[in-house]
Amino acid sequence: MNIVVLFGSPRPKGNTAAMVEAFAEGAKEAGHQVTVIDVAKKNIKGCLACEYCHNKGNGVCIQKDDMQEIYPVINEAEVLVLASPVYYFTLSAQLQLPIQRFYAIQYPQKVKKAVLLLSSHSPNVYDGAIRQFESIIGYCGFENAGIITACEGENKTEAKMAEVKALAKSL
Ligand SMILES: Cc1cc2nc3c(=O)[nH]c(=O)nc-3n(C[C@H](O)[C@H](O)[C@H](O)COP(=O)(O)O)c2cc1C
Repeated sequence: MNIVVLFGSPRPKGNTAAMVEAFAEGAKEAGHQVTVIDVAKKNIKGCLACEYCHNKGNGVCIQKDDMQEIYPVINEAEVLVLASPVYYFTLSAQLQLPIQRFYAIQYPQKVKKAVLLLSSHSPNVYDGAIRQFESIIGYCGFENAGIITACEGENKTEAKMAEVKALAKSL
């Protein structure tokens, strides 16, 4: 399957990055194709709500930023992975930007399954992010293929990395 990971941490060697690496390793071992998009490094603006995409644009966003290279990639994805640190009880702002820019295309049309990977400092801080994830996949009609969280004490541990890898392999 074609798997696209939207990686939403600004820390390239951080805790979310470790989960993404383990996920990609497991997915590749299972024969999947994996593309990781480091959204924090991209130039992605917020949606302007100008409705150009739904009126004159025929599904094309008027903003000429890095979303223009991301749209074709997510449009081919069969599995979408959202990977984020928890920032103030929700997904990072860096990850919210591309999600909200789905608006032009409604949602990536070939996606069948979605996965959520979250890293945090504290335990039990995931409700906001999970609620958003579940709402989005409900709206888009994606299957929930799994949610993995890691707090301090779990981040980067062998056990957590094995859990992430096993999920990727199970897809
Ligand atoms: C802006 C900001 C907000 C944060 N908010 C939370 C929070 O609400 N709850 C929590 O447990 N950790 C919070 N953290 C800690 C991160 O979620 C945690 O360190 C995570 O492992 C970072 O992942 P990363 O290494 O991939 O960047 C916050 C960190 C930052 C920088």
